[in-house]
Amino acid sequence: MKNLLAITDLTVKEIDKLIETAEDIKENPEKYQDKCNHKRLATLFFEPSTRTRLSFESAMLSLGGKVLGFSDANSSSSSKGESVADTIRVVSNYADIIAMRHPKEGAPLVASMNSSVPIVNAGDGGHNHPTQTLADLLTIKTEKGRLNDLTIGFCGDLKFGRTVHSLIQALARYTGIKIVLISPSELAIPDYVKTDVMDKYNMQYSETTDLEAVMPRLDVLYMTRVQKERFETEEEYYRLKDSYILTTDKLVNAKKDMIILHPLPRVNEIEVAIDKDPRACYFKQVANGRLMRMALILKLLGLDGEKACEEKQPQPLETVKGIMKCKNPRCITTTEQELEQVFKLTENGVYRCIYCEENLEK
Ligand code: NCD
Repeated sequence: MKNLLAITDLTVKEIDKLIETAEDIKENPEKYQDKCNHKRLATLFFEPSTRTRLSFESAMLSLGGKVLGFSDANSSSSSKGESVADTIRVVSNYADIIAMRHPKEGAPLVASMNSSVPIVNAGDGGHNHPTQTLADLLTIKTEKGRLNDLTIGFCGDLKFGRTVHSLIQALARYTGIKIVLISPSELAIPDYVKTDVMDKYNMQYSETTDLEAVMPRLDVLYMTRVQKERFETEEEYYRLKDSYILTTDKLVNAKKDMIILHPLPRVNEIEVAIDKDPRACYFKQVANGRLMRMALILKLLGLDGEKACEEKQPQPLETVKGIMKCKNPRCITTTEQELEQVFKLTENGVYRCIYCEENLEK
């Protein structure tokens, strides 16, 4: 059985195949309308969502399947103190596949350790959001005609913006990608994305606070919302929330064929007037997300006509269990009773929590 916890669970070949399937679904939806007859998708959303949950549900319904689930942690037994592990042990009796979103980082990994059906991570804290990446990749491919040789600017909350982390992990495996990271230093990209992804894959990247200065170089501008719900203090959020607001005048020096992406929801990072600009592709991402989730459901249920091929994951060099404690307040180990703390020793000699991927401070 295969899960999608991080985008790196898929090979480039598998991603390209999902894109191909999504394109075919778009052209020939009737071919797919009964593929998931008698299959059930459970959507377990412990955290708010509009697009992702409805997109998964619409995807399953369009494949002829059925959906069940909850959209509010307060209406589930987690409000009574039930662990993620127990919830999943229960729900895997009711569904053939589970899409879950959880505020704690690493919750989908815990789910996969307790599930008899495939788990799809629909967003875990500020960590990963691989199915948004699938939507982003199809949009870039459709609009730019390629996934190689692109300069991509990520702007806004790069620290907590999980969609950014997952998309960079995906792009690392394509060639000729240049990344420009645009954020205040307080919202800079986490270290593990730099060391384990961009450095490891020799990606060219630069960091700046000045969006307008780098605008002329960009083929893709990926705007993000400042993630209010992840801040430890409201004060800090209010100080940083308006760091970047894209207005029409800031686009004067942008390439005529640059595309503007945003995973949505938009708060005020993109002026509404920009929606009319043909370069604005954020609502196209929504349509593409549904197609890619359809392709993914088919794949994970083994209904895509492909032979199941398990990708070999690189094994951690060494794991240490039980002795140390993860300090990340957003880590699933802070709330999941009985969950053993596990760290891996990275190539850089630091211990990293296997659930949230935060480094253990020395
Ligand atoms: C994103 C998310 O949940 O991380 N939304 C989405 O799924 N499209 C981005 C966000 O909430 O800012």
